[in-house]
Amino acid sequence: MLNVAEIRKDFPILTERVNDRDLIYLDNAATTQMPKAVLDAIANHYSHVNANVHRGIHTLSEKSTSDFENARRIVAQFLNAASEEEIVFTSGTTDSLNTIARGLETYVNQGDTVLVTNLEHHSNFVPWQMLCKRRGANFLVLDCKEGRFDMDAFVKMLDKKPKIVAVAHASNLTGTLLPIKEITSLAHKAGALVSIDGAQGIRHSLVDVQDIDCDFYSFSGHKILGPSGIGVLYGKKEALEKLEPMRFGGGMVDLVEEEETTFGTLPIRLEAGTPNFSGAIALGAALKYMENIGRAAICAYEEELTDYALKALKAQEGLTIYGNPEKRVGVISFNINGVHSYDAASMIDKLGVALRSGNHCAQPAMKMLGQTAVLRLSVAFYNTKEEIDEAMKAIEKVKTMFAKYM
Ligand code: ALA
Repeated sequence: MLNVAEIRKDFPILTERVNDRDLIYLDNAATTQMPKAVLDAIANHYSHVNANVHRGIHTLSEKSTSDFENARRIVAQFLNAASEEEIVFTSGTTDSLNTIARGLETYVNQGDTVLVTNLEHHSNFVPWQMLCKRRGANFLVLDCKEGRFDMDAFVKMLDKKPKIVAVAHASNLTGTLLPIKEITSLAHKAGALVSIDGAQGIRHSLVDVQDIDCDFYSFSGHKILGPSGIGVLYGKKEALEKLEPMRFGGGMVDLVEEEETTFGTLPIRLEAGTPNFSGAIALGAALKYMENIGRAAICAYEEELTDYALKALKAQEGLTIYGNPEKRVGVISFNINGVHSYDAASMIDKLGVALRSGNHCAQPAMKMLGQTAVLRLSVAFYNTKEEIDEAMKAIEKVKTMFAKYM
């Protein structure tokens, strides 16, 4: 059991007032808030350590390097990766996914197939679509009607022997938790490499990359209590070795001569330029904070909160909830019937409640739902049932206000 009242004290932003109301932050799928442990790690780094990594032998540089590499170890342990060499720091999930799709440029040839779903965020759709266009490959999109992963249709598509299967761990729109272990096993049997977009899955479930057996797993720091601008690309060693670097510069090279350049070893080979070392150190602090609280307890509480929010939304008249996944994370999309999501979100914001609105960078999924814009409520373990109740009251108020004009 989590002591949510105590946990909330760790997050300074949760006492903010917005529009003269107590902030109720329910946009956690877009960005999570940072606990004091992470803010302190950032302040400590910049106050006492700040120096470039892997580039100097002075005291601060060595301390910074060892803190940075320690963060890599923390990430590896968090994911249960076989070694920290399998952890590449990037600027976020989008960067990780582009690094994979660009890195596999010559792995995909004319007539090959890449398989994604229509639940994907644009970050896990467009890089693969562009790769297929560049290489003359087939871009195959699995239709996930009502936000449900259609295993039979997926198995049929595997007859095409895709070179790559790229799927979300969880949808940022319908909250669908995809059966990534089964997907990976089936895709491997068909000979595909498997890349998982973990942006929405990482915080809501216990991710064990060796158990999942995926080739790549990507996520962003800012969606798991860390700062923005830092992300992770996990890859099995042999999978990372398939990636040709797409960025060149300092740090990632071995020998540079006029005629030729040779590259360094993994993971640095894929980290050209000064990495976001302060971000990585802060991400390490975020993951440690989550582990100290207890990841299983966090997941259980978020599930409870999600069920509570879903029931509360279903109990309201005049709402449409989108998607009907078998299993979900704490992300629920809906609309107030007859009210555009931007109008609703801005009025709900006036009542202190932060929800996201729009197409959620998932236009193929929106098309599948037959919508162009929806509201989205997404929880984190520092949210409470009382906050969900307040959000429901705000939604009721907006309905009442709009009822006059309908
Ligand atoms: N990808 C983030 C979201 O779904 C920004 O909101």
